[in-house]
Amino acid sequence: MTNLITQTSDGGLSVPDSPIIPYVEGDGVGPEVTAAMQSVINHAVQTVYSGQRSIVWKEVLAGGKAYERTGEWLPEETMQAFRHYLVGIKGPLTTPVGGGVRSLNVALRQGLDLFVCLRPVRWFEGVESPVKRPQDVDVTVFRENTEDIYAGIEWEAGTPEAEKFLRFLREEMGVNKVRFPGSSSLGIKPISREGTERLVRAAAQYAITTGRKRLTLVHKGNIMKFTEGGFKRWGYEVVEREFAEDIQAGRLVVDDCIADAFLQNALLKPEAYRVVATPNLNGDYISDMLAAQVGGIGISPGANINYTTGHAIFEATHGTAPDIAGTDKANPCSLILSACMMLRHIGWSEAAEAIEAAITSCFQQGKATADLARFMKNGTPLSTSSFAAAVIENTSI
Ligand code: NAI
Repeated sequence: MTNLITQTSDGGLSVPDSPIIPYVEGDGVGPEVTAAMQSVINHAVQTVYSGQRSIVWKEVLAGGKAYERTGEWLPEETMQAFRHYLVGIKGPLTTPVGGGVRSLNVALRQGLDLFVCLRPVRWFEGVESPVKRPQDVDVTVFRENTEDIYAGIEWEAGTPEAEKFLRFLREEMGVNKVRFPGSSSLGIKPISREGTERLVRAAAQYAITTGRKRLTLVHKGNIMKFTEGGFKRWGYEVVEREFAEDIQAGRLVVDDCIADAFLQNALLKPEAYRVVATPNLNGDYISDMLAAQVGGIGISPGANINYTTGHAIFEATHGTAPDIAGTDKANPCSLILSACMMLRHIGWSEAAEAIEAAITSCFQQGKATADLARFMKNGTPLSTSSFAAAVIENTSI
């Protein structure tokens, strides 16, 4: 019996009962939140599936620990492991400063072409929120992960490259609209048909299979007609071409919204949105704004996924929190909830539901780490490890 998760011919996943899942512990609070996450997941999987299923955790190195042991921040062996085992999870990683080292997170996303940044946002009862009805917020954001500003193509004002590019714009493209050419930095925003189609296709599929139905394309096509406007047009085209039957049967409803209007509407009537597909920069603002509404900016889960190859890395969305590292104070919810996304992704939804219900019970009892407990009326601040123990105690079938 193999322990390998593989992709099936129809693009789904074939998952053995004891799959090997590579994990990166992460830097700073990473080891603490990873240990908490693994204990919660192991217990839930064991309980829910009566010992029939388990996860075989395989540690792979990245970040500070990798650098100490191998002299490399992101060893090729780690990339190979994520490639080979398809599904993995990671704690936060320090972004190495200087020396031309790329962000490790960006390197992982690019190396595996993880084109969707998936951010589900929902409220947990008991968590303090700045809005009146946080329970109305239940949106999954599909943020494009490889184009737009993430392409990282820009030149600093005054450099020979910026001057050369400006000359090209002026002399060969007839562009005379740069208001202060002598002191402008310049950037390029690529958005393609293929990039849009694969993102919107994944979001539409998700809206259908989860029964969420409504998919909203969020863009600034009123101003940037060919990039953001292209995203809107190609987005509609791909769903009309590939999901006509689902649209006809009412399983999928697609609309669009201009990004600034979306930010207003999502605050005033968040229940109108269920699945959002959007280019990179809009997605950055939208994910954090929605997470703030549910008081969950520190506990929001996330994943980076390539729905074509099946590669997926689930991750804590916060950083390494160096100020509290090693003190057993960090909130492990972001990584635990990311692991729940991972369980759903491999089809083990029952275990994910059990853990989310246990977290809800803990919050209802005022049991949380200090960052959340201090805002709860009945809040009891717990350490990372005690909170994990409380979640385990509250996990039942
Ligand atoms: P940060 O998220 O590490 O910390 C910001 C504030 O939030 C700090 O006060 C911290 O104590 C608090 N915080 C963060 N996570 C928490 C948790 N789980 N429980 C309780 N409090 C928590 O952001 P910062 O300081 O900007 O970045 C520190 C390092 O992390 C940098 O090297 C940065 O590049 C890296 N980073 C890595 C990310 C990743 O791997 N996905 C994401 C963001 C930052």
